[in-house]
Amino acid sequence: MRIAVVGTGYVGLVTGACLAARGHRVTCVDRKTEIVAAINQRQAPLYEPVLPGLLKEVVASGRLTATTSLREAVLGSDVSIAAVGTPLKQGKIDLTFIEETAAEIGAVLREKDGYHLVCIKSTVVPGTTDTLVKDTLKAASGKEPGEFGLAMNPEFLREGRAVEDFLHPDRIVIGADDDRSFARMRKVYAGLFDAPILRVNLRTAEMIKYATNALLATLISFSNEMASLCEAAGGIDALEVLEAVTRDKRFYPPEGREPVKPEITGYLQAGCGFGGSCFPKDVKALISFGREKGHLPRLLPSTLRVNREQPLRLLGRLERELGTLAGRKIAILGLTFKPGTDDVRESPGIAIIRQLLQKGARVCGVDPCGIKNMQKVIPEAGNVHYTRDPQLALEEADAAILVTAWPGFLEIPPEDYARAMRNPLVVDGRRVLDKESLEKAGCRYLGVGLA
Ligand code: UGA
Repeated sequence: MRIAVVGTGYVGLVTGACLAARGHRVTCVDRKTEIVAAINQRQAPLYEPVLPGLLKEVVASGRLTATTSLREAVLGSDVSIAAVGTPLKQGKIDLTFIEETAAEIGAVLREKDGYHLVCIKSTVVPGTTDTLVKDTLKAASGKEPGEFGLAMNPEFLREGRAVEDFLHPDRIVIGADDDRSFARMRKVYAGLFDAPILRVNLRTAEMIKYATNALLATLISFSNEMASLCEAAGGIDALEVLEAVTRDKRFYPPEGREPVKPEITGYLQAGCGFGGSCFPKDVKALISFGREKGHLPRLLPSTLRVNREQPLRLLGRLERELGTLAGRKIAILGLTFKPGTDDVRESPGIAIIRQLLQKGARVCGVDPCGIKNMQKVIPEAGNVHYTRDPQLALEEADAAILVTAWPGFLEIPPEDYARAMRNPLVVDGRRVLDKESLEKAGCRYLGVGLA
């Protein structure tokens, strides 16, 4: 099939590259000439493992090209997939880019003969595709639904593992309100990806995306709430509690099969909270959507509140340990919101560094990939420095806080903390360090969910 993908953020570009890898002819569209040029020169304009190699292959084979001309791409394709951003504006989803994209595609459909399917991949609140998108397409094209098709196909791609997630999906959700739209969208995936295709209506597809992210975010906040209760009680290790909880056979495959630790249990761990471009944004958008529709969510605001307070609780414990944070040097191990990405959006590290600076501490942040992006949020200045070298950060530090579980941090020998730091206090914000060997080396250990 010939497919136009509008928007070359990580979702659009990964979608385009993977569909091209499976044999479709893909044209990626972006307004930014430098992004289009980079793609055509076989260079990934963003950090995503595996993508550079894949992009090289599909651009070289001619199966993927990029253009700034949406008209050219839509005229030359059977399906247009919209993967433009849906940012949050004043706590509410901003659908400007979706509306603009629908208007632009609609204007091209006015002059295009034959049936064309428009698919929304961007995360949009329920009702967006069958109202705003449909109405905008109708007005701009002068055509009625049926003359063009409409589908909603949410993505479940994790940053850092997006290519793997796309090529090996667990489910493919296709929202369509009519058979012809579904049939065409099905053709994009059928026979190429080994996963069940779930057909639902447009609104349900939109809701599935939010429900998935809201569940995962809530699991994290649930775990952190349990961790805080363990800390308050004393003498209980949340790590052991949550490990035992997730040993429940209802989390594991049925008897007789090889026991595999399900990945979902990774979200049932105490830590310093979730971040990224999706969980915080989507949970907020869902709350404001509920409010608009007359149902004020009860659980989701708590998910956000626990998450907001989690990094600050950790600092509260640190401050009690040190007496004061003023004038102290604190090493922050990890700036990105999770390992395997350069993304610092909504990273708990941001709240931690801001609070430390407010309390008069000096901060040295370490990260293998996230420094450039963190510089844009909290620029280097008198009291804040960044380095890729953990040893430099630990030098003369009064405490080290592990915020992101980058594998490199797990390999720091306990003796290095003890030797380099003025006061070897290690705060494990992810519960991935070995308490016993740190203590044996002469460090004090403070872990989330353990007091
Ligand atoms: C998330 C979802 O996992 C994807 O399914 C979804 O498609 C994507 O949002 C999106 O809406 O576009 P992502 O934000 O890349 O993907 O990251 P995750 O790997 O799920 O991490 C989100 C948060 O959960 C991070 O703060 C991370 O530290 C935390 N996490 C992740 C855990 O606490 N445990 C884990 O095992 C994995």
